[in-house]
Amino acid sequence: MNELVKLSVHSDIAVVTIDNPPVNALSPGVPEGLAACIADAVANPATTAIVVIGAGTTFIAGADIREFGKVVAGTTKPVDLPAIIRSIEDSPLPVVMALHGTAFGGGFEVAMGGHYRVIAPAGKIGQPEVKIGLIPGAAGTQRLPRLATDFAVAARMCVFGEPIGAKAALAAGLVDRIIDGDLLEGALAFAREIASQPFVKIREREAIISDPTIFHQLHTEATRTRRGQEAPLAALESVRNSSLPFDEGCRLEREIFVRCLHNTQSKSLIHAFFGERTVAKIPDIPKETPTTTIRRAAVIGAGTMGGGIAMNYANAGIPVILRETTQEALDKGLGIIRKNYANSVKKGRFSQEEMDRRMALITPQLTWDGFEHADIICEAVFESLALKKEIFATLDAIAKPDCILATNTSTLDIDEIASATKRPEAVIGHHFFSPANVMRLLEIVRGKATSKTVIATSMALAKKLGKIGVLAGNCRGFIGNRMVHVYLREAQFLAEEGGTVEDINSTLYDFGMAMGPLAMTDLAGIDVGWRIRQESKHLEKSGVRRPLISDRLYEAGRWGQKTGAGFSKYDENRTPSADPEVVRLIEEVAAAAGITRRQISREEILDRCMFAMVNEAAKILEEGIAIRAVDIDIIYLNGYGFPAWRGGPMFYADTVGLDKVLARVEEFEKVHGSEFWAPADLLRQLAAAGKKFTA
Ligand code: NAI
Repeated sequence: MNELVKLSVHSDIAVVTIDNPPVNALSPGVPEGLAACIADAVANPATTAIVVIGAGTTFIAGADIREFGKVVAGTTKPVDLPAIIRSIEDSPLPVVMALHGTAFGGGFEVAMGGHYRVIAPAGKIGQPEVKIGLIPGAAGTQRLPRLATDFAVAARMCVFGEPIGAKAALAAGLVDRIIDGDLLEGALAFAREIASQPFVKIREREAIISDPTIFHQLHTEATRTRRGQEAPLAALESVRNSSLPFDEGCRLEREIFVRCLHNTQSKSLIHAFFGERTVAKIPDIPKETPTTTIRRAAVIGAGTMGGGIAMNYANAGIPVILRETTQEALDKGLGIIRKNYANSVKKGRFSQEEMDRRMALITPQLTWDGFEHADIICEAVFESLALKKEIFATLDAIAKPDCILATNTSTLDIDEIASATKRPEAVIGHHFFSPANVMRLLEIVRGKATSKTVIATSMALAKKLGKIGVLAGNCRGFIGNRMVHVYLREAQFLAEEGGTVEDINSTLYDFGMAMGPLAMTDLAGIDVGWRIRQESKHLEKSGVRRPLISDRLYEAGRWGQKTGAGFSKYDENRTPSADPEVVRLIEEVAAAAGITRRQISREEILDRCMFAMVNEAAKILEEGIAIRAVDIDIIYLNGYGFPAWRGGPMFYADTVGLDKVLARVEEFEKVHGSEFWAPADLLRQLAAAGKKFTA
């Protein structure tokens, strides 16, 4: 018994309550307190059964993830959780685990130490350890397959980490009853029913593997859907060991767990896990900063981005006006929204009524009617500074005084756009990513005059829209696109110097990126890049090399996937293949520019693409455009298909070692010039001090 776990007596039933707010995590003291309370309850001769329950809104939601880092660093010796769970299981009195909220990870492993489990209707259980690069480490992979009536359910929970709800848990034998009404009352009643009955320990059961092909199936699925990740396969290996004697399975589970705990993937995923929470903290904008309530929204432009942005508002229950210039564009935009929602209904994500409700929240129109009531207006018209300034001047005249004026520009200067208004403090960048209704990232760009209230409201709004908001400073391309610009530049330079399109794409894909850089260019549209270049021609320095091949592709009408050809050829299913015509075009461009083509190694492809980005990111940090290195990582993980198990570009650079990164950057500088490769001062300083970006 301690502050975190308390024992009380309800006539003949002992109740052990875990009270470690906010989520009853298994922090130091909780497992020990549990064991002590159970021992005390057992020692009381009047007790016939024990109920374990969580105070507040949840059972034990999981391990205290910060503890893992301390264990790896050797600053903490972890409590022997498996032994404590075993001691609960050895209780001579039956133990009923009463679950609500989330019983995840170590929480569900504790629950499996009990002899019975009851659950609230909205309760969820799961073994999500693989999501932070680990496997269940307190016999979860051994007890779960012994408990489940369906081995596949248990195996899937460990391998993919997805939680299941009360009904599914009951169907798979993972809980014994769903308790409607008061959970404690229901658990007490259940405990009285079973108090005098014999009971079994899960560890003494056998796992029944009715279909041995399950291992092969899950291996194939995990390799495909969790590409590059070690933990899902490690979890599968451990689940497979549930056919061994329990103690042997546990011994092996521990070995695999420790292996995962010490590898880079779990460190990267834990970095990403905490990073999502860190980015919400903005040093000069305290939590108490006043915010405005967003009740009504308006979006300008119903194109690729505007339609998706309007859906975000409707999804969050916020009525939104969607304005276009022509009926045709409006109908087209609305048609795509309807199709997207209909797809979700078809996939069973929500009902037809829900779709109708969301559609009804979107008011399509060609006028400015109602804009005067909007709490936020988000502009998503063509990427043209002149057009955007014209629109912001109009908004300045019609929007109410505290309305937030947001632009979805991906490259343009927020201050310049704000200068078209008399209220630059209200103007902010809301850079959504395509498809805007799907991608989780919202890069929020503060101009020099943007008010703290507008920033704080935008950060809160991101959350409401189900997005991760990351704050960036104002510069060309902000954080994400400024970095992707140098990444794509190197990919194209490499192609011109002799790298094949296929090698360049597959090197980055095999590294873990969702797609290769040239495939990404084909998806985004070569015409889109071309248009951006036309807008920024005045920024080009003469005598400085620039990628030439995309202009040639644009001129040849090869605009990427949408035209069936770009850097690759695409069939009707958009499957790419190599195209000799591209090779010819690239050779032509290279010859005209006097570039000597050579064989290029995958190592060079990877290092040039990655380290160009990392070096640029170091400058972004130096300039204060990004608050912390982890903000950059979160942007890349959620907006650019960077593999979470590598932690993001900054964390990846740290794992390589900044001295090694710097050495490569200096090598490339010698060959390709300082214009592109002058090392960032910050990179030099950190490398010299033996430090990291993400300390
Ligand atoms: P788009 O060309 O698909 O859509 C623009 C829409 O705005 C068109 O439907 C056009 O009719 C409409 N429009 C033009 N002037 C208007 C006005 N005065 N009032 C109302 N509607 C007007 O372009 P997209 O791709 O949606 O881009 C929009 C903005 O989002 C741009 O600033 C772009 O840089 C940015 N962006 C684009 C991303 C992408 O992947 N496509 C990603 C992130 C930002």
